[in-house]
Amino acid sequence: MTKKRALIIGITGQDGSYLAEFLIKKNYIVHGMVRRSSMPNTQRIDHILSTSRDEESSNKKIIREYGDLSSSENIQNIIRRIKPDEIYNLGAQSHVKVSFEIPEYTYDIVAVGPLRVLEAIKNIKPNIKYLQASSSEMFGNSENNIQNENTQFNPESPYASAKTLGYWTTRNYRDNFKIFASNVIMFNHESPRRGLNFVTKKIVRGLIEVKNKKRKYLYLGNLNAKRDWGYAKEYCEVMWKMLQLKKADDFVIATNTHYSVRDFVEAAGKELNFEIIWKGKGTKEVGIDKKTNKTVIKIDPYYFRPNDVQSLLGDASKLYKAIKWKPKTSFKKLVKIMVDKEIELIKNHKIY
Ligand code: NAP
Ligand code: GDD
Repeated sequence: MTKKRALIIGITGQDGSYLAEFLIKKNYIVHGMVRRSSMPNTQRIDHILSTSRDEESSNKKIIREYGDLSSSENIQNIIRRIKPDEIYNLGAQSHVKVSFEIPEYTYDIVAVGPLRVLEAIKNIKPNIKYLQASSSEMFGNSENNIQNENTQFNPESPYASAKTLGYWTTRNYRDNFKIFASNVIMFNHESPRRGLNFVTKKIVRGLIEVKNKKRKYLYLGNLNAKRDWGYAKEYCEVMWKMLQLKKADDFVIATNTHYSVRDFVEAAGKELNFEIIWKGKGTKEVGIDKKTNKTVIKIDPYYFRPNDVQSLLGDASKLYKAIKWKPKTSFKKLVKIMVDKEIELIKNHKIY
């Protein structure tokens, strides 16, 4: 049987690395778009990155395609050459706060990027199946306490606005040009491979460093924001399942539970034998370890956003029904997975 061929855009990121491992296990030939950088940026995929460009000798490994979502020419050349059956677009400037600092760049990659890929699919090989990584951030501070596929978008950051454009472009190419193009509207999902400047990984790494006396305090921003945190590894399997459905469609993926940043700090602290209690208000609030009476957490207003999304909580019942999927990893388990792995990574001087 001929092997299926996938192109993953954003393969060096958290999700791209898990998806690549999953597709390789499914016997796909996996090509991954990697950006040129002056320092290695392939830490998350080094264990499955081929040294060859030849599909035959790259069995069970990723073939690297140098590229960038900013270049239509580059995207077209890659698609024309490898003729994938499936494209997963996970590439993005994915940090909400940073998007306020580089809005134009964020729009170019996050909003126009998907258009460039879909236009190439339309013109080169319209039977390619396309998955767009959309975001719960598109819901913004919603009037609905629980958000699903029918909830109105209310994007409140350059990142969220750009993702909303990517979402609609995906739907337009599906409706107008009959391309199999689906949106996976993902609520926050975390793992040991999460980027260091997202709050969960930052908390885990920061508390371990406080514990190891490498630093005195961990500085955070809005402690009261609530997020629906799932496990990234599980969400990547869903991406593949969505492209195996008979019809392209849009699905929310979420756990239907949510916790605050404060909850995450307490849970990660507990795994590290801290007992964190809170004192003070606003920017003067501190988290203290009750066992030692030492301040561990401080607030730095730098981490506040011009407009933060206060609460996200997903209803993924449409997905549960379509692919019989339910999340397996609880919040507590996710925190433990992240803390345990981080301790190991630090011991081995490794950073994902
Ligand atoms: P991530 O770790 O930040 O990875 C983003 C990937 O995009 C990296 O491979 C990055 O490459 C690549 N990229 C950045 N700019 C690019 C460009 N100009 N051209 C091509 N590739 C570029 O993000 P993630 O957490 O894996 O998320 C995957 C996707 O899902 C993203 O689109 C994100 O916006 C979306 N999403 C994520 C979540 C979540 O909670 N994780 C929730 C909803 C939606 P480098 O490694 O070179 O930077
Ligand atoms: N990053 C960060 N750093 N966030 C902090 C901090 C801090 O020091 N302190 C508090 N927070 C709060 C943020 O204000 C936000 O309310 C919450 O923690 C989560 O922030 P992030 O982990 O940066 O994630 P996000 O929710 O903004 O965005 C992530 O999820 C989206 C889906 O809802 C990213 O993965 C996006 O790419 C994704 O689309």
